[in-house]
Amino acid sequence: MTTSHSPTRLAILGSTGSIGTQALQVVAENPEAFEVCILAAGSNSEQLQQQQQQHPQSRAILVLSPRDGDKPDTFEHGSEALHEALEELKVDLVLNGITGFAGLEFSLKALQCGSNLALANKESLVTAGALLKSAAIQNGAEILPVDSEHNAIQQCLNGHKETTVSKITLTASGGPFRGWDRSRLTDVTSEQALAHPTWKMGPRISIDSATMFNKAFELIEAVELFGEPDQGIDVIVHPQSVIHAIVEFKDGSSIAHLSEPDMRVPIRNALHLLQRTPGNFQPLNLVSRGELTFETVDHKTFPAIELAREVLKHSGTTMGTVFNAADEVAVHAFLSGDSGFLTIYDLVARAIDEHEPVPADSLEVICEADQETRNRVRSWIP
Ligand SMILES: NC(=O)c1ccc[n+]([C@@H]2O[C@H](COP(=O)([O-])OP(=O)(O)OC[C@H]3O[C@@H](n4cnc5c(N)ncnc54)[C@H](OP(=O)(O)O)[C@@H]3O)[C@@H](O)[C@H]2O)c1
Repeated sequence: MTTSHSPTRLAILGSTGSIGTQALQVVAENPEAFEVCILAAGSNSEQLQQQQQQHPQSRAILVLSPRDGDKPDTFEHGSEALHEALEELKVDLVLNGITGFAGLEFSLKALQCGSNLALANKESLVTAGALLKSAAIQNGAEILPVDSEHNAIQQCLNGHKETTVSKITLTASGGPFRGWDRSRLTDVTSEQALAHPTWKMGPRISIDSATMFNKAFELIEAVELFGEPDQGIDVIVHPQSVIHAIVEFKDGSSIAHLSEPDMRVPIRNALHLLQRTPGNFQPLNLVSRGELTFETVDHKTFPAIELAREVLKHSGTTMGTVFNAADEVAVHAFLSGDSGFLTIYDLVARAIDEHEPVPADSLEVICEADQETRNRVRSWIP
C-alpha cells in the first residue's frame, strides 16, 4: 500500500460510539494527516452535532431517527444519504465502527466505491466475508483490520506470506465471569455482564465478551482475513489483555503483539495505513505490570467458540449470518430483561442447528437470512 503526503480523506461511520470517538481522538493527534469528509452516526444527534462543529467541512449523516427528536438541518438523514455520500466522495479510507449487522451494507458500499476499509465492524466479515473480499479485489481496495487481535496479527505478519505461518493464537480476557461455573451464571444481571475488566466498549460487544461470543466472531473474522494455518487458530485466555495475538511461523519463531489495552493503538495503525505514526499512549511497563498469565478456555461453561467452529464448517454460506443475527437478538433480549444470560447460548445453538445453509453470494440472500433468523429467534423468547 502506498501513502501520499496529502491528507487521507476519511469517513468515520459510527462516529458517536466507542470506536468512532476514539478514532476522532486519533485524528486529533495528527490533524494535518486527515480530512474528515463524512461523519455518520445512528441516532445520537447531539453528539454528532458537536463532532460536526469540530469538523465543519464534513458531511454529517444521521442514519436512524434522532434519539431526542431534534433534526438539525445541517445533517443528512437515512442510510440512503450515507450510500450517496460514500459514492459521491469516494474517500480514501472508511472507518466502519457501526455496531452489528447494520454495518455490513456500508462496508460493502465502501469497498465497491474503491475506498480502503478500516474495519472494526466484525459482523461484516462474519456474515459476508467472501462477498467483501471479492468486492475489495474487484475495486482495488484493502481491508485493514481494526479489531485489536486482527490488527495485531497483521502487525505480526509484517508482510510475511500466510503460507509461512503454522499457527495463530488469539487472546481473550475471559470477560467478567472468568473462572465462574455454569450454575453461577444463571442469574447474572446485565450490569454484571456489562462490567468488562479490561476494555471499555459498547453494550453489544461487552455482553459478547462476557459470553465469549465476541471471541467466537473474532475466530471467524481471523479465518476470513488470514486463512486457517496448518495448525489452526487457537484461543487462549490472557486476563491482562497485554498480548493481543501470537503468530507462530513454520521456522519455529513466534511473534506476539503487545500494548496496554487501548483501542487507539490498532485504530492509529489502521488510520495511518499500517505506518508507524507517533501518537498518545500509555507506555507498556512489563515490570510494573507484573505477571502475565494464560489459561485454556472453559468451553463447557462458555460454548461460543465451539459453536463458531461448527459455523466455520459451513464457510461461505448463510450460517455466519444466522450465527450473528441470533446472537444480536439474544443479547438484546438479555439487555432488556426478557431472557437470561445462559439463554443466549441456547438461542444461538438452536438457530444454527435448525438452519439449512445456502451460499452467501449476494447482499439480498444475506439480508433475507438475517431477517428470517431475527423473526425465528424472537418467536422463541417469551
Ligand atoms: N469498542 C471496542 O473497543 C471495539 C473493539 C473491537 C471491535 N469493535 C467493534 O466495533 C463496532 C462498534 O463497537 P462499539 O463498541 O464502538 O459500539 P458502540 O459504542 O455501541 O457504537 C456503535 C456506533 O454505531 C452507531 N449505530 C448503531 N446502530 C446503527 C445503525 N443502524 N446505523 C448506523 N449507525 C448505527 C451508533 O450510533 P448512535 O450512538 O448515534 O446511535 C454508534 O455510533 C462493533 O462491531 C464492535 O464489535 C469494538
